[in-house]
Amino acid sequence: MPRRISDDLIARICDENDIIDYVSQYVQLKKTGRDYSGLCPFHHEKTPSFHVSQEKQLFHCFGCGASGNLVQFVMRTENLDFVDSLKFLADRAGIIIPEDDVSLNDENHAKKKKLLAMNKHAARFFYNCLKDSSIGEKGRQYFIKRKISWKTVTVYGLGFAPDSRDMLIKHLTSKDFTVDEIVEGGLAVRREGRVYDKFRNRVMFPIIDVRGNVIGFGGRIMDDKKEVNGYKIPKYLNSPETLVFDKGKNLFSLNLAKNAKESDVILCEGYMDVISVYQAGIKNIVATLGTAITENQAKLMMRYAGEILICYDSDEAGTKAALRAIDIISSVGGRSRVIRLKNAKDPDEYINKNGVEKFKEAVKNAMPSTEFKISLIKKQYDTTTADGKILFVDEAAKILAGIKDAVEVDAYITKIADDTGISRDAVLGKYREKTSKNTYRRIPLKTEYQKKNERKEREIVREEKITPGLIAAEKRLLALISQSKKLYRIAEKCIKADDFSTPTYRKLAKLIYESYSHDNTPEPAIILNSFSGDELAEASEVFYNLEVYNGDEATVKELLYTITLEKLDIRINSETDAVSLAELFKEREKVLEEKNMWEE
Ligand code: UTP
Ligand code: MN
Repeated sequence: MPRRISDDLIARICDENDIIDYVSQYVQLKKTGRDYSGLCPFHHEKTPSFHVSQEKQLFHCFGCGASGNLVQFVMRTENLDFVDSLKFLADRAGIIIPEDDVSLNDENHAKKKKLLAMNKHAARFFYNCLKDSSIGEKGRQYFIKRKISWKTVTVYGLGFAPDSRDMLIKHLTSKDFTVDEIVEGGLAVRREGRVYDKFRNRVMFPIIDVRGNVIGFGGRIMDDKKEVNGYKIPKYLNSPETLVFDKGKNLFSLNLAKNAKESDVILCEGYMDVISVYQAGIKNIVATLGTAITENQAKLMMRYAGEILICYDSDEAGTKAALRAIDIISSVGGRSRVIRLKNAKDPDEYINKNGVEKFKEAVKNAMPSTEFKISLIKKQYDTTTADGKILFVDEAAKILAGIKDAVEVDAYITKIADDTGISRDAVLGKYREKTSKNTYRRIPLKTEYQKKNERKEREIVREEKITPGLIAAEKRLLALISQSKKLYRIAEKCIKADDFSTPTYRKLAKLIYESYSHDNTPEPAIILNSFSGDELAEASEVFYNLEVYNGDEATVKELLYTITLEKLDIRINSETDAVSLAELFKEREKVLEEKNMWEE
């Protein structure tokens, strides 16, 4: 989906959310000179080096280099991507995003908003039912039986759907939702012309997305009877897919897990598993929504976690699902390990039986996914016999053939040889056999285009000889021209955007030049939206030091001379040909002469 959002809209969203006001929720800010400063929320420090400028609506940490505008601050603190951060800020300021911003506003936007509002009402309704002394008694008893504390109930917003045909429908229609909307939102079902509450006589688990929206529900029966009056009833009933509920793109409890301090995330199968483990203080845990894991879910986890620790049920179905999960995760470039729980069917049972410390130990001992796969096939063969060994090595070699990391492959070849007593060379041979069969691909000849591109890249690298003097001059020049059209006019005649020395400066220059050519004054907070990571820090520093960069026409000219001379010096330093060198010296003298004339 195209992610073009108009600069005007971004500007408005930034205008109506003051950066000082927002950052103050995280950092105790003190006014210091023209800025505010405080302890950096992104790294540990004792003296404040984190600065926020109200005037420029930017933040910058002189300690760790974190910097950017408010949207970028939200991206980091709320763990959201750019578009979601904008939506978050728009919501916060009550800005209705206009229809023509396609990416923020598909045609269903109004409908989605309504469904989300309805889900929120429903979640509150279920929670209030659970709290109600008579209606909620059964639900409360159930959660007590499952050792869920009231505090956990409130953290997850758990609830109870009463055993009634239409209590929820009545409640929602009283809040101005139509029956059609309730059916479309998956909270009621129509059967033979009549409508019924979809969830009846169940404890309720709201499913909340990373932005805090209630997007759907899971509901569990309270006795494990699977049949009522001859009808099979599912243990868990989930909301159907709706405009706002895509089961393959969301994860249960990711809204809580994303703020956990751990750098990995535990993936399990059930809502109750997540809740029990979270209650025990382990917050980096999520679950799929009643379906097998998808690539989208793997990618979603990877946005927040370095490694995914698969903790599926210990039965055969769970093991199969874990194998599938390993492959899905690796297919999108993710890393995973497998947590194995002995003598319990799932994490919930394990933690209730053995306590949190044992669970933590199991997490720490999570098995590398390849080892897990190999250990499973090993169980299938009797490796005390020659035949068994051969079959095992053959299967194991197939697994190794799918691994990209040569060191990892090598380590496993040694391990398999040690485990079976088969020579390392023979195992290696098997592995080679599998790789040549499975993955042999002709390497295409390079196209002219590729060759040209490579040449160009090499040239850039060669040209990329930079000196601190050059960088300082360019940085100061960019800062000056970004705040004055007059100064920009002078500079633009002598230096093109492409002439700047680092990729970041070139990009920055291009954006500044473009603003002026469209008759706009460059807005730092907007320009910075085009940068991320190290580039963002580098670009932000240019704007951030604006006040120390006060200068006039003379300064610009001086800087332009400095840049020309620095560049000449770089060429002189790397020139090996005597004739060319002489020319360069001549050129240098000429520039110096010009400079002196101008200075007089
Ligand atoms: P489990 O059957 O393993 O249940 O299903 P559980 O999580 O251990 O729950 P408890 O401990 O019995 O309460 C795992 C997950 O599969 C989905 C649900 O998301 C559930 O959490 N599921 C299961 C369904 O969607 N429908 C079902 O009928 C059963
Ligand atoms: Mn369970």
